[in-house]
Amino acid sequence: MSIIAPSILSANFAALADDIKDVERAGADWIHIDVMDGHFVPNLTFGAPVISAIRPLSRLPFDVHLMIERPEKLIPDMIEAGADRITVHAEACTHLHRVVHMIKEAGLPAGVALNPATPLSAVENLLDDLDLILIMTVNPGFGGQQFIPQSLPKLRQLRAMLADRGLSGIHIQVDGGINAHTSALVREAGADVLVAGNAVFTEKDRAAAIASLR
Ligand code: DX5
Ligand code: ZN
Repeated sequence: MSIIAPSILSANFAALADDIKDVERAGADWIHIDVMDGHFVPNLTFGAPVISAIRPLSRLPFDVHLMIERPEKLIPDMIEAGADRITVHAEACTHLHRVVHMIKEAGLPAGVALNPATPLSAVENLLDDLDLILIMTVNPGFGGQQFIPQSLPKLRQLRAMLADRGLSGIHIQVDGGINAHTSALVREAGADVLVAGNAVFTEKDRAAAIASLR
């Protein structure tokens, strides 16, 4: 059964509490929190103060996606604010192994995200240390973008790579342009955690939207 993680980037920021409670009621499994710094990606969203403000509102795991340069500088703040799992971008880390271990030593599951043009080889020497690999299915920075179809062979290649190593327990997460149509494609290709922003938050009936992704 897929894990559905609505991305609050597409929520109504003027009524964030209502939207978070609504998707929890509607059957969301995780809350995906897109932290952007305006440098690693051309957009600026929110940081630890917002995460700690919304933490008491939901029991769901906070799946924090750091689209920021030098994520090691903010990982302690994110943990303090209530992150349950943290994903960093391979492209943003000079010392990716060290950053992943910083997350794990704090007791949190660690994920690494790969942008569409970044090959799987970027994580090949780190697989044993990871809980999750995020295959970006859009170029990061914004919600509502079109799914990049080249993600599908990359997902299949990752699933095979993990199976060959007996690591099929590692989550394969997809993020960007996931909707009722693309969700079937990515699930078939091996994804088990689906992030969706627009496909959930632009719908009135969030329960039906989430169900359509499973
Ligand atoms: C993009 C973010 C995604 C985005 C997904 O940089 O990482 O999580 O919010 O939004 P949709 O599902 O609308 O493409
Ligand atoms: Zn994201």
